[in-house]
Amino acid sequence: MKSLMYSEHAEKYDSAVQDNIYNACLERPSLQAMLNDLAGLNVLDLGCGSGVYTQLLIEQGAAEITCIDVSEKMIQIVDSKFGSRVSSYSQDLSIGLPQEEPNSKDVIICPLVIHYIEDLCVLFQAVNRVLKAGGYMVFSTHHPLADFECSRSGNYFERELITDVWDTVGEPVEVVFYRRSLTEIMDAVTKNGLAVTQLSEGKVADKVKEISMERYNYLSKNPNFIFIKCQKLC
Ligand SMILES: C[S@@+](CC[C@H](N)C(=O)[O-])C[C@H]1O[C@@H](n2cnc3c(N)ncnc32)[C@H](O)[C@@H]1O
Repeated sequence: MKSLMYSEHAEKYDSAVQDNIYNACLERPSLQAMLNDLAGLNVLDLGCGSGVYTQLLIEQGAAEITCIDVSEKMIQIVDSKFGSRVSSYSQDLSIGLPQEEPNSKDVIICPLVIHYIEDLCVLFQAVNRVLKAGGYMVFSTHHPLADFECSRSGNYFERELITDVWDTVGEPVEVVFYRRSLTEIMDAVTKNGLAVTQLSEGKVADKVKEISMERYNYLSKNPNFIFIKCQKLC
């Protein structure tokens, strides 16, 4: 799903997420904790944004890195940061991964993207096709319990398009995303040949105490994101 947050505000988004609370002190350390050694591996970064994770993949020694994002602006930022060190292209992930070879990737990461995609089955089917046997994917998304606070339908089990306004880039920007149940997420994974091997609700970093004790206390007691690791069944 295209959003002004990731096109018009892409540069500001890039600088905001370098050291903010939600991405830098909660989401990234929690997802990174679920990755094994990446040295020498072929890794796909789905919904790569401005390449904050791509930088981590390079630092951790991934051999080949492919970055995909629907936002051409985000892909331009990735290209300007990493040049030929990574392959990158713009594509909507809701159509799957038609440009990727079967059984070609060791690891796929997809941080904070699936809530922008309506039908998850197409994506997870493609993930299963593109992963090597025994390869795995780690993804994060909004915690279903946290998103249910924005529900207008009041029906947790019904997928719902939510419009919200976020201050991530220092000014209010409207963002539209899908709220869905944990059952729907797990079904999309497990009905497409992937086995869930780890689930986490994240852990806020201690350094948030120095930024805002109030936020630290809140995030220590309330789930905000959910993290799932799933492996291709052989
Ligand atoms: C919250 S950002 C996360 C970026 C990056 N994964 C990170 O964690 O820093 C979400 C990204 O998903 C991309 N995105 C949203 N819908 C998409 C879709 N249907 N296909 C591909 N990328 C999409 C956006 O353009 C944006 O760059």
